[in-house]
Amino acid sequence: MIRILFVCLGNICRSPMAEAVMRHLINQEGLQDDIVVDSAGTGHWHIGKPPHEGTRSILDQYQISYEGQKARQLEPSDLSAFDYIIGMDHENVGNSKKLAGDLPTGTIRRLLDYIEDSPVKDVPDPYYTGQFDEVYDMVLKACENMLKEIKHRHNLKGKGE
Ligand code: 4NP
Repeated sequence: MIRILFVCLGNICRSPMAEAVMRHLINQEGLQDDIVVDSAGTGHWHIGKPPHEGTRSILDQYQISYEGQKARQLEPSDLSAFDYIIGMDHENVGNSKKLAGDLPTGTIRRLLDYIEDSPVKDVPDPYYTGQFDEVYDMVLKACENMLKEIKHRHNLKGKGE
C-alpha cells in the first residue's frame, strides 16, 4: 500500500482539494486498493471542520467527492507513516521537516515540484486570494503528473492498461 499525505496550513482549502482530486484520479484508474490519500494542516484552528466553501464549490462543479473529509492537524507520526508527504508551499514543507526532527520520513516535497515547467512553486493560498479555480487547475495537473510518476515507480497499472 502506498500512502500519500497532502499538507497545507489550515487543512480546509488546498490540501483537502488535493486529497479529493487525487482520490478521484486513483478511483478512476481502479487503484484504490494500492494507494491511499489523506490530508492534514500544520495549524490547529480548523480541526474537525469540513473543507472551505470555496473548495467544496469547485469540487462540486467537477463532481469530485469530498465526503467525510474533516480538518486535522499534522502529527509527528504522520511523517513516517506516509510514503509521500506533499506540502502546498515551502512553509508547509519546512514545518513538516521540523516536526519530523531526526526521525526517518517518507519523501517530503512540494506539490508543484510535479509540474516541471511551473512558473510558481508554491500553491497560492485561496483562503487569502479567493482564487479557488486557479488552485484547482494547478492541483489537478500536479496530481495527474504525480500519479503517473507513482504508477511508474511502483509498477502499478491503471484500468485498461
Ligand atoms: P489552507 O488555507 O492552508 O489552504 O487550508 C488556510 C486556511 C485557514 C487559514 C490559513 C490558510 N487560517 O489562518 O485560518
